[in-house]
Amino acid sequence: MMIKVSPSILSADFGNLERDIHGLAAAGADYVHVDIMDGQFVPNLSMGFPVVNALRRMTDMTLDVHLMIDRPIRYVERFCQAGANILTIHVEADTEENTLEALRKIRACGVKPAICVKPKTPAEAVLPFLDLCDLVLVMTVEPGFGGQSFMEDMMPKVAKIREYINERRPGCELEVDGGVNTVTAKTCIAAGANVLVAGSAYFKAEDPAAFVQALKN
Ligand code: DX5
Ligand code: ZN
Repeated sequence: MMIKVSPSILSADFGNLERDIHGLAAAGADYVHVDIMDGQFVPNLSMGFPVVNALRRMTDMTLDVHLMIDRPIRYVERFCQAGANILTIHVEADTEENTLEALRKIRACGVKPAICVKPKTPAEAVLPFLDLCDLVLVMTVEPGFGGQSFMEDMMPKVAKIREYINERRPGCELEVDGGVNTVTAKTCIAAGANVLVAGSAYFKAEDPAAFVQALKN
């Protein structure tokens, strides 16, 4: 399987964001993972529309935007307009009906819709949405902060969602987020993930290109 790497810029140097973004392309990363937090869905705040828009002007890379916000239906169109290429919303963030509607809105904007599950949410929770998604994101930490430890006990969930995807939605990508490094990446790939988010491990790496390559091997 083709493995893709999506460094999370939550751990970037925001005083040198353009330098760090150009570094991602140079390192051979595939996507730019952008963590949006509202202080409600998760106990932290990060960035919003202006930063997504600035990133859009800095790079042609795929912007993989992860919304950790309550009732994302209110804002999905604005994130699409700001320049997201993949837009991920959480199944826990609204009713099933609104989540379906939000995914349709994202698709109508010409952006790839994606769904995310927190650690305590079971694999089955993605099923009502799978037909509308181009990517499923499985959290391997509690969302909210970079630099936490990888939850290996999420691997059965990754494997189960890989089965759902192969049966019902081949071509849909399966991404993992949280605590991914050169060791835990192998576990994620073995369970069936094909897109790896790495924040702190990527930005701490002495040789980012070698780090990206190591994740893919
Ligand atoms: C956590 C975010 C992650 C985070 C990953 O809420 O969704 O994308 O930046 O950071 P690391 O790789 O340091 O766990
Ligand atoms: Zn994320």
